[in-house]
Amino acid sequence: MSTQPFEPFQPAAAVPDLAPRDVDLAEDGHPIVPPIDAPDAAVMHHPAATPGEAPAITDDEAAGAPDPALAGRPMGPTARPMPVFPEPTPRDQHGPARVVSMCNQKGGVGKTTTTINLGAALAEYGRKVLLVDFDPQGSLSVGLGVNPYEIERSVYNLIMDRNTGFEDVVLKTNVPGMDLLPSNIDLSAAEVQLVTEVAREQVLQRALDAARADYDFIMIDCQPSLGLLTVNALTASDGVIVPLECEFFALRGVAMLVETIQKVQDRLNPGLEIDGLVATMFDQRTVHSREVLARLVEAFEDKVFHTAISRTVRFPETTVAGEPITTFASSSGGAYSYRQLAKEVLFRCPGT
Ligand SMILES: Nc1ncnc2c1ncn2[C@@H]1O[C@H](COP(=O)(O)OP(=O)(O)OP(=O)(O)O)[C@@H](O)[C@H]1O
Ligand SMILES: [Mg+2]
Repeated sequence: MSTQPFEPFQPAAAVPDLAPRDVDLAEDGHPIVPPIDAPDAAVMHHPAATPGEAPAITDDEAAGAPDPALAGRPMGPTARPMPVFPEPTPRDQHGPARVVSMCNQKGGVGKTTTTINLGAALAEYGRKVLLVDFDPQGSLSVGLGVNPYEIERSVYNLIMDRNTGFEDVVLKTNVPGMDLLPSNIDLSAAEVQLVTEVAREQVLQRALDAARADYDFIMIDCQPSLGLLTVNALTASDGVIVPLECEFFALRGVAMLVETIQKVQDRLNPGLEIDGLVATMFDQRTVHSREVLARLVEAFEDKVFHTAISRTVRFPETTVAGEPITTFASSSGGAYSYRQLAKEVLFRCPGT
């Protein structure tokens, strides 16, 4: 038997495992994640930002002086002062929609949960929301109480069948102001069939064009892959939100996702922006969760939403109930967080 003294676990030894693939390491073994261009960061983060108007950056801001609006604010989960996001004002007219893809090729990170609950929170704030289930698993549909086997026509028919129109597929959800384009396993055939289509990357974009005028937000729940369906979603989108689980392997693969987003920007959709990365399944009590979040902020800076979604069993419960947490447990912490995220999204995306 070995007489070696027990060596405690050294977090430092684990650092390279947190590095995304194909990313250079600094001398201290720290991953250098490629920066993401944020051309309109000034608009996104300036408290006085109004739709369509980029505020001038003051000399103090340019010099990196602390924002007086944040002075004395409590620290948020991302270890930055938590700003106060303005209470959204209701809209008297709707559209054109901002199309946002919920995207991460890693499975089980909270894409579907975020689509349902962010969508429901935006609807509570008076926005007209369309959720698009663009995953053959049909989890978004199930999460809203729709049985995927009972759907007569799904998003598959909408994109592949000329004779199916938007009105033939769209369903009302139990959340006022929020509609759903449901999906089921049929959609997996589209990935193969699309390969031979002309302009195969723009099929979803064309299908959603008619709906843009009627909604304020169209949110696309992507499947966990970077295949043709996801490229279609990114091509149809104005923005991407990346949900990331607050755990050890969270950053792995993010570089690959950013690369895909950049390729879509270069070749198919120059207007595509990364609206932000949102940490999910966060546990404030564990050093591990806080470290992962700190690393995320270090790498992606202002692109990380101030709001983080805590881990709670209420979310799996909502899936069983087939409704968003904002109605299932309206006063829970989870509902509060998604409302906070909705406010942050509205603040970051002027004009929404
Ligand atoms: N904040 C949370 N706390 C606890 N459980 C959560 C949280 N968010 C999501 N979950 C649960 O984690 C599981 C995966 O979440 P979800 O389906 O939203 O991930 P996903 O990224 O859409 O997965 P997939 O890649 O398979 O589409 C679900 O059972 C969901 O209820
Ligand atoms: Mg999902």
